[in-house]
Amino acid sequence: MKLNTELLKKLVTAYGPASNEGIIRSIIIDEIREYVDEYNVDNLGNLIAHKKGNGKKIMISAHMDQIGLMVTDIDKDGFIRFGNIGGISPSISLSQKVLFENGTMGAIFAEPVDDLSKLKLDNMYIDIGARNNKEAEEKVNVGDICIYYSEFIDNEHVVFTSYLDDRVGCYVAIETLKNLNATDNDLYFVFSVQEEVGLRGAKTAAYSIDPDFGIAIDVTAHGDTPKAKRFAIGLHKGTAIKVKDNSIITHPLVRNNLVELAKVNDIKYQMEVLEFGGTDSGAIHTTKEGVPSGVISIPTRYVHSTVEMASKDDIMDSVRLLKAYLEEKK
Ligand code: CO
Ligand code: ZN
Repeated sequence: MKLNTELLKKLVTAYGPASNEGIIRSIIIDEIREYVDEYNVDNLGNLIAHKKGNGKKIMISAHMDQIGLMVTDIDKDGFIRFGNIGGISPSISLSQKVLFENGTMGAIFAEPVDDLSKLKLDNMYIDIGARNNKEAEEKVNVGDICIYYSEFIDNEHVVFTSYLDDRVGCYVAIETLKNLNATDNDLYFVFSVQEEVGLRGAKTAAYSIDPDFGIAIDVTAHGDTPKAKRFAIGLHKGTAIKVKDNSIITHPLVRNNLVELAKVNDIKYQMEVLEFGGTDSGAIHTTKEGVPSGVISIPTRYVHSTVEMASKDDIMDSVRLLKAYLEEKK
């Protein structure tokens, strides 16, 4: 198994902010269709792909939505004001290019920009190059969402781009599905919607699937750059097995199972204690009477920026660990 950079690039550059996941969902359906027994799209837009088995029911969840900027107002000169969909940082957004679903491009700027400490979304705007309000409204409307325009860059060791969160998780799920050996487990691969606004898709998907175990695949932060807060996660140190974040303390059954499998299969791993954030497993584990759940994380620097960076080896170790977990009889 080698990293399929073409597929990862296709996933990170596809449009799909929370609640507008149609385009990314069709791309994923095309990738997985022939590897599953059936799939459906639920009422909220989650893609639920089923690979049938007679054993335990396992829900695997990777969110396909991404953070974005929603149009709140277009002024008389055609400048667009916006609010955030998910964790959008003002300083990261300054001077970025953005892309709307219909292909319209824009640039984000702010006024005044002499004191960056005062920068907030309220004094920022998107300029799509319209000469007046009428021209702007022909292309963009209040309520539309744009995303950071992505460039995919890689070298022999890392990839960096916007939206590894969580298209790299989708990538890990897809590659696992494609390489999976026969197993008794009854597998539900969920590509969830609206994670970035509060784990909403995973919540309804888990309710309908009612799994025995839950596994989320998502990015995690880093503690390996010059002045980062001490945090035992770094690039090139393997896949990360989550112990906790703000949405879950992972179930020992799942966590120990993952650690054992990493050891037995010689997969490089690190333990992750994240003091903020959450993932789909936060929603899955409190479903109905409770679902023992865990998380396989991909260590990622600069999460929610346009240069999110991950190690190719760590990504492949994440595929190996998920594959081992799903193939083993529970
Ligand atoms: Co995120
Ligand atoms: Zn995420």
